[in-house]
Amino acid sequence: MRKKIVAGNWKMNTTLPQGVELAKEVNDALASRCPACDVVICVPFTHLAPVAGVIDQTKLGLGAENCADHASGAYTGEVSAPMVASTGATYVILGHSERRQYYGETAETLRNKVALALENNLTPIFCIGEVLAEREAGSHFDVVKAQIEEGLFNLSADQFSKIILAYEPVWAIGTGKTATDDQAQEMHAFIRSVIAGKYGQEVADNTSILYGGSCKPSNAKALFAKPDVDGGLIGGASLKADDFMGIVDAWN
Ligand code: PGA
Repeated sequence: MRKKIVAGNWKMNTTLPQGVELAKEVNDALASRCPACDVVICVPFTHLAPVAGVIDQTKLGLGAENCADHASGAYTGEVSAPMVASTGATYVILGHSERRQYYGETAETLRNKVALALENNLTPIFCIGEVLAEREAGSHFDVVKAQIEEGLFNLSADQFSKIILAYEPVWAIGTGKTATDDQAQEMHAFIRSVIAGKYGQEVADNTSILYGGSCKPSNAKALFAKPDVDGGLIGGASLKADDFMGIVDAWN
C-alpha cells in the first residue's frame, strides 16, 4: 500500500550553520519517536552534503528542492541530478509552483528533470496545483490534469510508480489560507482517478499524493484523515523542528 509521507521544503531559508542545526533538531526529535509516516527534509543545494553527514537517513530522508534539466556540461550555476545524488540525497522536489512561476519551468524541462532524477535513483516529489484565478474560473481540475499528463505521462508504469505527487494549490502556499480538507480530498481523489485512467487502479492506489499549502500542526490531522491525502509537503512550518514534528505526529 502507498506510503504516508511528511516532507519539509525549506525553500531559500537558513544559512548553512542554521540549516545543519535545524536538521540535527529534526533528526534528534525523530530518534525518540516511532513516526507513523516517512519523514523527509528537502534543503538548499549548499546544505545537502553537510546535512547528509549529521542525520540518520534510515529515519529521515534527504532531498534537494530542484535539479537541472541536463546531466552535465556548460550550464553555469546549475546543479545536476548526479550531483544531488552524490551528496547522499535520495529525493528531489520538481515542478514546484515557485519554479514554474519565477523560473519559467515548462512541462518539457520538467520531463527532462524527472528522467534525470529517476536515472540517478532520486525519488521525485512532483508538484502540481492551480492558481487562484483558475480555481475561481472552475478550471482547476483541467489545469491539474494537464500538469500531470504533460509532465509525467511519458513515463512507463514502472517509472511512474517511483513518483510522489504533491498537490499544492498556489493560492494556499505561504498565505495561511489552507485548502479545506474537503477541497484537498476532492482534488486528491480526482488526481488518483487521472492516474488510474492512464496506469490502472493498482498503480493509482500505490501512489502517494501529498497536500501542500499552509499545512501546520493545527490543520494536519484533519487533512491527513482524508482517504486520498497521504501526507504533506510543508514549507513555512518545516523551518521550526517543533512545528514540523507536530505535523509528523498528526499521523499518530
Ligand atoms: P507553505 O509552503 O507550507 O509555506 O505554504 C508549501 C510549499 O510551497 O511547499
